[in-house]
Amino acid sequence: MNQAKHIAIIMDGNGRWAELQDKKRVKGHEAGAKVVKSITTFCSNHKDIERLTLYAFSTENWKRPRLEVEFLMKLLNSYLKKELDVYLQNNVRFEPIGDIRAFSKSLQKTIRIVQEKTAHCDGLVQSLALNYGAQDEILRAVNSLKNSHEDITLEMLSNKLDCKHSVDLLIRTGGDKRLSNFLLWQSAYAELFFTDTLWPDFTTKELEKIIKKFKKVERRFGGLK
Ligand code: FPP
Repeated sequence: MNQAKHIAIIMDGNGRWAELQDKKRVKGHEAGAKVVKSITTFCSNHKDIERLTLYAFSTENWKRPRLEVEFLMKLLNSYLKKELDVYLQNNVRFEPIGDIRAFSKSLQKTIRIVQEKTAHCDGLVQSLALNYGAQDEILRAVNSLKNSHEDITLEMLSNKLDCKHSVDLLIRTGGDKRLSNFLLWQSAYAELFFTDTLWPDFTTKELEKIIKKFKKVERRFGGLK
């Protein structure tokens, strides 16, 4: 049976969740942050799961209204500060991916502190994708190799990516069926699961059901059975 060692999630539907309740979109992000916590804790207690990568802010999310972007930045900052103890209690190592140089100095500092303080944890690795886009990630990797005198190999490129680990199971909530520039390289052989559930309504129970289905899928990686 398959093991979901690396789960990646596109957390979509926060805005719609809030609008459905006549609330401001940012209330959806607030509710979404709580789900990030519960899903991370669940994964940290699951024997199969080694890595959880969550799409928290894409390179395209800057196009949103300024106030929403500012809210997301503040939420991220307070989330990380508050959750540091929870990461430590659950032995979770925090490893951000993406180009965080675009963030404010204080947010960059919070990210680095949480990363450093959890560096010794050897349980689940939780990666938040922050100012992340797969095309940007691949471009940065290629540029870092452009002065190489040898032909670039798969391994060389892979080692320069922010995320060096292939994805087993990729889930998108919120009903849309697209990858939105998330982990395109690492998901080459990922199993894709799409659910209509809006992210703030996503539960550990639903994740358990998806993992159960994933376990039974026949993965061939381009070969034969
Ligand atoms: C998509 O919902 C979600 C995001 C753009 C950001 C994800 C953010 C969170 C889950 C909350 C904050 C996270 C952390 C780690 C503190 P959407 O706004 O695109 O929803 P919509 O498609 O319904 O408009």
